[in-house]
Amino acid sequence: MGFDQYHEPPSELSEETRTFARMILGLIEEAEAIDWYEQRMSVEKDDSARAIMANAQKEEFKHFSMDLEWLLRKRPVWRRIAKGVLFRDGDIVELGEKAEESAD
Ligand SMILES: [Fe+2]
Repeated sequence: MGFDQYHEPPSELSEETRTFARMILGLIEEAEAIDWYEQRMSVEKDDSARAIMANAQKEEFKHFSMDLEWLLRKRPVWRRIAKGVLFRDGDIVELGEKAEESAD
C-alpha cells in the first residue's frame, strides 16, 4: 500500500484531511476504471464480453458519483461551482466562469 496521495507529511495532516485525500484518490481511481472499460469496449469484438464490460463500467459510474457527492458535501464552494456547471445546457466554459465568479 502506498502513501503517494499525500503531498505534505501525513503526520501533520488532520484526520479529516487524510480522509479527504483518500476520497480524492478514490475519485481518481473510479475515473481511471471508467476510462479502462471505455478503451476495452472500443477494441473488444465479442458482443457478450462487451456487454459485461459495459455493466462493469456502469458500476464505476456509480462509484465515481458517490465519491464526488461525498466530496461536494464536504466542500460547499466546490458544490456551488458544480451546481453552476453540472446538468445544465449551454457553453460549459461560460457556465464554469459564471459559477466560479458567484461561488463566494
Ligand atoms: Fe469502482
